[in-house]
Amino acid sequence: KAAEKGGFRSFMDKEINDQPQAVADTLLGRLDLSGRLVLDEMRIEESVLRAVDKIVVVACGTAAYAGHVAKYAIEHWCRIPVEVELAHEFRYRDPVVDERTLVVAVSQSGETMDTLMAVRHAREQGATTLAIVNTHGSTIPREADAVLYTHAGPEVAVASTKAFLSQITAAYLLGLYLAQLRGNKFSDEVASTLAELREMPDKIQEVLDRSDRVREIARWMADTPSVLFLGRHVGFPVALEGALKLKELAYIHAEGFAAGELKHGPIALIEPGQPVFVIVPSPRGRHSLHSKVVSNIQEIRARGARTLVVAEDGDDAVVPYADEVFFVPQTSTLLAPLLTVVPLQVFASELAHAKGLDVDQPRNLAKSVTVE
Ligand code: G6P
Repeated sequence: KAAEKGGFRSFMDKEINDQPQAVADTLLGRLDLSGRLVLDEMRIEESVLRAVDKIVVVACGTAAYAGHVAKYAIEHWCRIPVEVELAHEFRYRDPVVDERTLVVAVSQSGETMDTLMAVRHAREQGATTLAIVNTHGSTIPREADAVLYTHAGPEVAVASTKAFLSQITAAYLLGLYLAQLRGNKFSDEVASTLAELREMPDKIQEVLDRSDRVREIARWMADTPSVLFLGRHVGFPVALEGALKLKELAYIHAEGFAAGELKHGPIALIEPGQPVFVIVPSPRGRHSLHSKVVSNIQEIRARGARTLVVAEDGDDAVVPYADEVFFVPQTSTLLAPLLTVVPLQVFASELAHAKGLDVDQPRNLAKSVTVE
């Protein structure tokens, strides 16, 4: 077992560390020499993909948050409406899907029963189903019409880390491919995003190389009873995932919120000393998005929150309001989740270690949930 952990104290640590490779492998072989995306492996006829007028992502847990991130990107690049729904909710309402709907099931294991049932239900309604799955030969890709594998390699720790980054990467490839197929007006942006995606493994490595400080803070905070996470836009599902990791690994009460929702309720939770992670979007992206999050930080700071800020290199505007800033390399707004989630994973894992918990096998959880 020690050898399988590659010298790390847990599979979780190893898998967090494997993330640059997981993203690189998920990109591998899917771009031709001219930089165009080639996804013939999906074996869905181009005419079917061109006719898609709605995408519904179905998934559970971390995989659903990957879908939630992808919604922002796919809608922007393709101008196709994307819904993201927990598979067990999708299955038991009366979802409006038809032949022109692409239902994308995201799953690390490919065995989650709720997600499988959602795929079956979608097929019965005539939708085209695509599985974004990590485990070859698993059930969901066998039952779906098509599959786009993530190449994260086996994930052993129960809580998902490297699969999450690979799922976002694969879902982005799907979105960029649909945009490419439709030859829409964003074609320059598609090309530049693909080029930027190729730089992500190095940037993720840089985040990992800088993680000493987040580990130190996590150890200091081992006794904290609750942590909040705030984000906007793609930072919102990152906040949800940061909170989920902390619940799963460290058994700490944690909630993720859309930062804009703060004033509609969650700000009542802020009392002196309350730790709050805030995911700040790039100041080089939509200015209003950045400035809104900075004012959210000011609002909670004024009420005594302890602010732990994840921001882009060079974002000096956040420094005066942050108790701690974890800087990540610059990238475009839509690609930022591949970087900003990493300090949150490291934080949760380190805090759980500091509490002496089994980070690979948290209590009450299973790696793949094969019952409904
Ligand atoms: C379980 C795991 C989670 C995972 C979820 C979905 O609850 O503990 O880490 O995100 O299932 O699993 P899947 O294999 O479908 O991605």
